[in-house]
Amino acid sequence: MECAIEVENLTKVYGDLKAVDNISFKVKKGEVFAFLGPNGAGKTTTVEMIETIRSPTRGRIKVLGQDVKKSTKEIKERIGVLPQEFISFERLTVRETLKYFSNLYKKHIDIDEIMDIIDLKDKENELYMNLSGGLKQRVGVAIALVNDPDIVFLDEPTTGLDPRARRDVWNAIAGLKKQGKTVFLTTHYMEEAEYLADSIAIMHRGRIVAEGTLDELIQKYGKRSTLLLKGGRAEEAAEALKENGYDAEVVDGDVEIKIVKRDAVLDILFYLREKGISYREVDIRHSDLEDVFLNLTGEKLAEET
Ligand SMILES: Nc1ncnc2c1ncn2[C@@H]1O[C@H](COP(=O)(O)OP(=O)(O)O)[C@@H](O)[C@H]1O
Ligand SMILES: [Mg+2]
Repeated sequence: MECAIEVENLTKVYGDLKAVDNISFKVKKGEVFAFLGPNGAGKTTTVEMIETIRSPTRGRIKVLGQDVKKSTKEIKERIGVLPQEFISFERLTVRETLKYFSNLYKKHIDIDEIMDIIDLKDKENELYMNLSGGLKQRVGVAIALVNDPDIVFLDEPTTGLDPRARRDVWNAIAGLKKQGKTVFLTTHYMEEAEYLADSIAIMHRGRIVAEGTLDELIQKYGKRSTLLLKGGRAEEAAEALKENGYDAEVVDGDVEIKIVKRDAVLDILFYLREKGISYREVDIRHSDLEDVFLNLTGEKLAEET
């Protein structure tokens, strides 16, 4: 498959700081690629080098087969960019805003078409300053589309939004993929990467520490699933399970059993019934990207909004 973006041994140094430290990765055409990592990881620096806005200290970047150093102008025409914490003209309406940005490019698509894709039609005459945070971000995504780009870069498009507004922006992003666009999404929200991304690269302190699909990452770096038994005689249950070779322990009054094979859950429940040990509730906890990140870095991926 042809690549939308190829990055090789990319480094960016600021004084003593290696903001981006020798990273390499590829983004396939038509996929949503998420660059996931905490604040300060080097995501914006990387994405702005790909967008031809910052120049690398070392390394090579190809966008749509062209070198960013040589073909800056051509690349700019073919990509759309929503910068981090973007703010537009306060006293322009949505339609005026899109018209303004659209006129900056040689090639542009119909503004009504963009408003359809991003679901902004009924807001077209509202002033930007009067829009909610979620709508402002959707206008930002719409601006990134005015030149009908092949690749759309969205840097932290939902930071600070409430869950409902975040979901609306997610729907807009999912719509871009349906349009056949490649989406490069930068985020520190693992749910966002989980929900939207075909491929995920996890960035930490300037380096890519892991890369793959969600399933691949969880399989490789996640914890095993855990069966939880709540509201029973936990000590007794844990002892009985340990005697039978299970990895069980009591945590906060519940029994936690590490699951190795899928069938183990049924085996455990049958075994406890045979033993006459009862409990009130059963729950299964699967691993998520948070576990993956913790496992890779020893740190938690901050979940503040
Ligand atoms: N122009 C710059 N000059 C000096 N340091 C910078 C500059 N841009 C970014 N940095 C530093 O590089 C690191 C990575 O920043 P950034 O790429 O913005 O990370 P992220 O987008 O993942 O939060 C941070 O420590 C930041 O302070
Ligand atoms: Mg950033």
